[in-house]
Amino acid sequence: MEFIPQVEPYLTEAEARAAAEYLRSGGWLTEFRQTERLVEMVTSLVGARHGAMVTSGTVALYLALKALGLGPGDEVVVPNYTMIATINAVVWVGARPVLADVEPDTLCLDLETVRLCRHTRALIYVPINGRHGDMARVVEFCREHGLYLVEDAAQALGARAGDKYLGTFGDIGVYSFTPHKIVTTGQGGMLVTDDDELIGRIRKLKDFHRTAPASDWHDGVGFNFKFTDLQAVVGIEQMKTIAWRVQRKKEIYARYQQGLSGCKGVEMLPTDLEECPPWFVDVLLPDQATRDELVAFLKERGIGSRPFYPPLSFQPMYQELGRGSFPVSEELAPRGLWLPSSLGLSDEQIQRVCQALAERLG
Ligand SMILES: Cc1ncc(COP(=O)(O)O)c(C=O)c1O
Repeated sequence: MEFIPQVEPYLTEAEARAAAEYLRSGGWLTEFRQTERLVEMVTSLVGARHGAMVTSGTVALYLALKALGLGPGDEVVVPNYTMIATINAVVWVGARPVLADVEPDTLCLDLETVRLCRHTRALIYVPINGRHGDMARVVEFCREHGLYLVEDAAQALGARAGDKYLGTFGDIGVYSFTPHKIVTTGQGGMLVTDDDELIGRIRKLKDFHRTAPASDWHDGVGFNFKFTDLQAVVGIEQMKTIAWRVQRKKEIYARYQQGLSGCKGVEMLPTDLEECPPWFVDVLLPDQATRDELVAFLKERGIGSRPFYPPLSFQPMYQELGRGSFPVSEELAPRGLWLPSSLGLSDEQIQRVCQALAERLG
């Protein structure tokens, strides 16, 4: 029986050819023209003035907070349902994370549950799985309260709110390029911003805080978070097919919607497929036990799946931030499951997954 993984990267001959050509070209492998080209392709797609490529989405988040000058004594609002990197970045800059709950229909931060104090300096909005809430209200809320808005759009490259791309609503937006993202470079992250000063700070921070490119004088304490051109050539080939990738994600989700429409106990979130190419096909089961049994059943049937992230307030190191205080995320996350979502999925494979769910759940 052919195994259907929950996700795998979609790579073609084009990436292999580009990598081989690059290796023969005499390039130095590290960040240079190809990385610049990848940044240009992403920023022109999403409509951001500037971009900077770094080694991961996590590092991008960390640098975003650093560039905004956040650190000890500051509080940063984080949604209780997100990947662990969102909150870790806050801790790594020395600031204090404050959790907020999420909206049940988008799984994105619910502004009504945000607790502010005089130390709150920023809010990280996570358009989880490419969905979003009322972005105008989010921007307005941050403006009203004097907060920086960082958008952790790691899962949302190619997703929009209206005709504006997610990742471009805040002071800084962040994308990730790990193997399960819509475009991958193995590892990789990008910061985007319209702010000339912020991008200058980010570029210095990621390159040893040189006074000028290639200079060995430094006017601050920087890191080495530079990218590599060898990876960038892979990303460039994928960005050439971003329109198809976005479209295919939408088609895959629509096929699941159709295939699961009669399946008892499977709930799918409202999803506007005009705007949103869901990164993963996400479903909610009636309870955690049903979900966990389904994972085992699908595995027996040769189908990979992955439970949603636990809410942050359940994580051993973050429980003190208020386990039990976030009813929506704490109720929904344990019921959530990601189904096979690779770009390379065939319609027959999707049908096989839907049939397996129907067999188990009726
Ligand atoms: C919402 C979110 N933020 C941050 C990250 C971290 O990105 P990376 O794995 O590139 O460090 C991820 C990765 O999946 C993510 O989903």
